[in-house]
Amino acid sequence: MWSTVLLYIGVILITFRVVKTLRMSLRSKLPPGPTGIPIIGNLFQLPTSRPWLVFDEWMKQYGPIIYLNIAGQNTIVLGTHKAAADLLDRRANIYSDRPDLVVLNLLTGGMHWAWTQADESWKKKRREAHEALNAQAAKEYFPYQETESVIMLDQLLAHPEIFTDHFQRASTSLTLTIVYGWPPLLDSAHPNAVHIDQMDHELLVAAAPGSFWVEFKYFRWMKYLPRWMCAWRRNAEDAFSRNSVMLEGLSADVQKQMDAGDNITCVASKILQNTGNLFEASWNSISIYTAGAETTSGQLAWFMQAMILYPEAQLLAQDELDRVVGSERLPTFDDYEHLPYIRATVKEILRWRGVSPLGIPHRLSEDDYYEGYFLPKDTTCFVNVWSLHHDTQVYGDDAEHFNPKRFLDANGNLQSSIVDTKDEGHYSYGFGKRICVGRYIANNSLFIHIAFLLWAFNIKAKVDADGNPILPDSLQFNEGLIVRPAPFSCNITPRKMDASEIIAQAKADRGL
Ligand code: HEM
Repeated sequence: MWSTVLLYIGVILITFRVVKTLRMSLRSKLPPGPTGIPIIGNLFQLPTSRPWLVFDEWMKQYGPIIYLNIAGQNTIVLGTHKAAADLLDRRANIYSDRPDLVVLNLLTGGMHWAWTQADESWKKKRREAHEALNAQAAKEYFPYQETESVIMLDQLLAHPEIFTDHFQRASTSLTLTIVYGWPPLLDSAHPNAVHIDQMDHELLVAAAPGSFWVEFKYFRWMKYLPRWMCAWRRNAEDAFSRNSVMLEGLSADVQKQMDAGDNITCVASKILQNTGNLFEASWNSISIYTAGAETTSGQLAWFMQAMILYPEAQLLAQDELDRVVGSERLPTFDDYEHLPYIRATVKEILRWRGVSPLGIPHRLSEDDYYEGYFLPKDTTCFVNVWSLHHDTQVYGDDAEHFNPKRFLDANGNLQSSIVDTKDEGHYSYGFGKRICVGRYIANNSLFIHIAFLLWAFNIKAKVDADGNPILPDSLQFNEGLIVRPAPFSCNITPRKMDASEIIAQAKADRGL
């Protein structure tokens, strides 16, 4: 009897030991990556420019999951569709937090919900945003998007050389209309728009990896330094106070209009009704603005570059527009179903050169195991979206080239999308529970702007003194959290004799 009991105890102890040893060996098995040096790990091996290209190279050496120790911060970079979808989509319950960014949280008082943890408060704010921006609700903004396209064409006719300024104005103006119900801004010099753009810029800098030493684990102690000792704290805290006053003013204006019984339907009014707290409502509203304003205009800059480098794609799109829309009128959203090539162009520009080639980082909130590797709690997770978008196994041998036809079937209709891309065909809108909540608005804006641009203009390379085209290098980037092409110029010339009359009429019809 005693020997049986002892045998059972022995088996239990051995099993316990084996499980513990297995867990220990799994825990020590972090994914592979470049060997770092003690304490600071891979900090000084991190590429200072075009990290997505370097990670793409590293993946050939280390495989689809790279582990980096960035001065004590566990970080993984995922480089395949499967790894990204397995973790960020299928295990979204533990992969949806954001890294805790000290300076960004000071700048926003922790109120910018695109950068907060995926807790109950975030869920509520995200639900509110989804109600205002989902596929059906997004249709309410069609008239505003068409109006912005009209103004954009008009300004391009007058000053084609500053085309990116016109894209920026259109993007800022539309987002202000959607969020605060503002009428279209004819130039971006409105003081509040300038102030918001300045704030947006500060946030983008604070969110870009490695902008401040205090963000690295071994330098976290710096966050306890008093105000008088560090400029970054003073600047961020002062900006938060200044910005809060301005943002409360914007939401208070909306509240006044609601109180006066005006029929104002914008995101801020819906948020004010739900939240009932001016300070909170004002930050919830601006979180949507800052996430949406820079991205669309950056994506349009890449579109212009694609048109210069791939003139055959431009001709095919113009051919479709001439057949469906003709030259007597401007395109509208009513043409949407009949313009599959333009819709494929939208998908392709987001695939070929998305403005977020490294995505927006997520944070793992619990220890996890994947493919035999241990992934510790608090790991920062990047997806090298660039690698996913240039995967020849998925997009074919011409993955490096801009080719909207890859999204069309033999009859020229849009094909069903590549699995795990939520029907987009690409990953530029992110993953899991944090997937871009404004993607319907973004797709619609890109569709109508691109249709207008190609209906009205030929977009060509400039030529040098010998008549040779000056082609931009699409591997030169203007880096930051939003990645744009390095500055380039192009020739934008009207395609139709009477384009300016049609545009003038469209302006008049809209009371502009
Ligand atoms: C071409 C345009 C756009 C691109 C490429 C884009 C891309 C992204 C990406 C990559 C994310 C992070 C996803 C993740 O963490 O996995 C994101 C989040 C977000 N986007 Fe967009 N976006 C665009 C336009 C917009 C617009 C127009 C709006 C609003 C009007 C918007 C609102 C948001 C918000 C609020 C979030 C935060 C979601 C969260 O953290 O839960 N975006 N977007």
